[in-house]
Amino acid sequence: MLRKEQNDLLTQTGPGTSMGGMFRAYWIPALLVEELPENECPPVRVKILSERLLAFRDSNGKYGLIDEFCAHRGVSLWFGRNEEAGLRCPYHGWKYDVNGQCIDVPSEPRESGFCQKIKLKSYPLMKRGPVLWTYMGPSDRQPPLPEWEFATVPADQTFISKRLQESNWMQAMEGGIDSSHVSFLHRGDLGTDPLFKGAKGNQYNMSDMQPHFEVVEQPGGLYIGARRNAENGNYYWRITPWVMPCFTMIPPRGDHPIHGHFWIPIDDETCWAWSYDFHPVRALSAREIDAMRDGAGVHCKYIPGTYRPLANKDNDYLMDRAAQKAGKTFSGVAGFAIQDASLQESMGPICDRTKENLVSTDNGIIMARHRLMRAAKALADKGVTPPGVDPAHHKVRSASVVLPPDQAFKDAAKEALTVRPGVAQTTV
Ligand code: FES
Ligand SMILES: [Fe+2]
Repeated sequence: MLRKEQNDLLTQTGPGTSMGGMFRAYWIPALLVEELPENECPPVRVKILSERLLAFRDSNGKYGLIDEFCAHRGVSLWFGRNEEAGLRCPYHGWKYDVNGQCIDVPSEPRESGFCQKIKLKSYPLMKRGPVLWTYMGPSDRQPPLPEWEFATVPADQTFISKRLQESNWMQAMEGGIDSSHVSFLHRGDLGTDPLFKGAKGNQYNMSDMQPHFEVVEQPGGLYIGARRNAENGNYYWRITPWVMPCFTMIPPRGDHPIHGHFWIPIDDETCWAWSYDFHPVRALSAREIDAMRDGAGVHCKYIPGTYRPLANKDNDYLMDRAAQKAGKTFSGVAGFAIQDASLQESMGPICDRTKENLVSTDNGIIMARHRLMRAAKALADKGVTPPGVDPAHHKVRSASVVLPPDQAFKDAAKEALTVRPGVAQTTV
């Protein structure tokens, strides 16, 4: 349970808020590379951390992320003409480059130098892996580019999607930390989803409904270990790294690609659920990619032409009571992603954490909240760089292992929990 001011601190990320200041210390995913597929393609509206921005790719292939609205009289530059190394407002022709600098005001004499005095807010937009990343903080504190493994392996080993989630980012992310819900909410899908089925570890998940949680601090955040019984007194451990502020990686199952997420606030009542899949040592197969595009695993089907899920709150997530009753799905909603989204959105746009009753399986969530609150305050009060900004903190892996009862996961799985290029994931 949290006090109201703690809940506000965690959930508010607009300009001027403490948590907003913290998000602005990191490179965060802004768009899929595929959203700006070629030079002079149509610009894309981007809202992040409650700021309305516009992304475009100019005639020379440079990416820009600038204020959505024209400095003249506030027209949305989404209507703009992307031409000759800039974006031109269609109302009176003012033109901006990828840095938001105004480079032409056709109604004014060129010699007046008027346009040089006009500059829109802008943020860097950089490609790394299948994602365009932005950094929205002070330019003198811009960190090096991120080093997440899914974004640094060869392109044929990685896949990423994003979906609109109609809830605050924090309750969405808490679902990624809470692996105890897998044995309930997702149980019907573990044995059937093409990106999950067949792993030996699935049996342990299904047979032990009372996992014991052990949470260990690591430089960028936490390792959250969920322990279930295996054969002969051994334990099956599923270990989820959480890196601040909002990166998680699901423990692997067999040789399936490893899945994981980022939750990026659009504003305080909606977020992007970014969902990646990668394999550290092999290309994803055509069958795997087809399944991902078709919404299997952690991905989803969309309303065509949008990133809003086809199953959403307006159609009750295509609830199937017969499937619920028959136990085909535990909640009646199909697919991991929408199972999570439906329940997290059902909490209301901003979950009221003054009313919850937490139990021991919520330990990871409790520790993550405290780590976030501490770091946000330390940054706001003393300018301390938060954990997870340093690219060294990105080099974590999830793992699933069977260990003898006397071995602590943090020691026995130490190597498995760090990125080792060219070495496969540790998985059961
Ligand atoms: S509003 Fe954009 S040029 Fe006038
Ligand atoms: Fe889930």
